[in-house]
Amino acid sequence: MASFKLLLLPGDGIGTEVMDEVTRLIEWANGTGAISIETETDLIGGCAYDEHGEAISEAAMQTAHAADAVMLGAVGGPKWDGVPYDKRPEAGLLRLRKDLQLFANLRPAICYPALAEASSLKRELVEGLDIMIVRELTGGVYFGEPKEITDLGNGQKRAVDTQVYETYEIERIAAVAFDLARKRGNLVHSAEKRNVMKTGVLWNEVVTKVHKDSYSDVKLEHILADNCAMQLVRAPKQFDVIVTDNLFGDVLSDEAAMATGSLGMLPSASLGAADENGMRPAMYEPVHGSAPDIAGQGKANPIATIASFAMCLRYSFDQGELADKIEAAIANVLDQGLRTGDIAQKGCKTVGTREMGDAIIASLNNAS
Ligand code: NAI
Ligand code: MG
Repeated sequence: MASFKLLLLPGDGIGTEVMDEVTRLIEWANGTGAISIETETDLIGGCAYDEHGEAISEAAMQTAHAADAVMLGAVGGPKWDGVPYDKRPEAGLLRLRKDLQLFANLRPAICYPALAEASSLKRELVEGLDIMIVRELTGGVYFGEPKEITDLGNGQKRAVDTQVYETYEIERIAAVAFDLARKRGNLVHSAEKRNVMKTGVLWNEVVTKVHKDSYSDVKLEHILADNCAMQLVRAPKQFDVIVTDNLFGDVLSDEAAMATGSLGMLPSASLGAADENGMRPAMYEPVHGSAPDIAGQGKANPIATIASFAMCLRYSFDQGELADKIEAAIANVLDQGLRTGDIAQKGCKTVGTREMGDAIIASLNNAS
């Protein structure tokens, strides 16, 4: 039986509440006999700062490096608004992304049929939607140098951000997208702006070459990023996998997310480079934050984090079948009419974090 080490970093606010439900799903997964997941739990974010004076300790970083995957809840909250910039809760997250070199951010946008009414788009446009946005996460305009504001001395200032991409960065993110497409709908849209950006020209050229050399069985379409944004609200179901740079990916993934309802439903994965055994450093986390407004009340929607664990099973632990079962159980409890407050709906029953977790586990137990 395959055996894996998973580091749990629940973090702050509702992070601990939603991670509790994942802990129960790990017990369920271990109980299937298909896999053995050994967990360790550590601090990240504000709670780590309170304990160690840093948003993540060296010991936790070492555990993260040694683990097969990391699951994170959320970090931050008003309590830590005043802490020094390099020690703020987000610094823990950024450190993990940087040290594990998590260059590929996977953001699925899935519309569960029961929630199609909650979408900002019409039901027929989003029902059954299943898109994967693959965003380059460690390069591009958020990191390129020079990056500065200069005082021009005449009452004017000049701000500069620099978009930089090198061939290897585009090659490795393209490979992630094509690999994913092979396990999904076999279609990749590569979004850039080659009409006005040199990085777009290189992006297009490199993706085309990776496709021709290694993935010609997958269908590839090039699309200008602005058109991609339009198509995402006009006819989102035309997409399977969208691969794009850091900046466009930030915007397009948030746009696609809104087709699916609430922040409380959205999972994500961040992957690094594969080693010789095909294992990649990986971190799985909900898209939402620590939700201080509802923290400690047992109201948080655990589905984003549970769906992130399903992604962990699929992409890090090679347990696609268990992941499918968890996703089916989520769809099932939504069909039963159970809703947490963030997705509350007329005619449905509003439940808390624990009840939602209970229902998902009950559905899994009934299905097997
Ligand atoms: P947020 O995502 O924490 O909350 C936004 C709104 O959505 C709130 O009204 C919240 O109650 C609701 N919400 C979020 N997740 C929910 C869930 N699972 N179930 C039900 N309702 C949910 O974003 P906000 O308020 O901007 O930030 C709060 C704190 O979280 C800040 O300290 C921020 O820095 C941090 N944050 C951390 C992130 C992370 O750990 N990856 C990401 C975003 C924000
Ligand atoms: Mg964003």
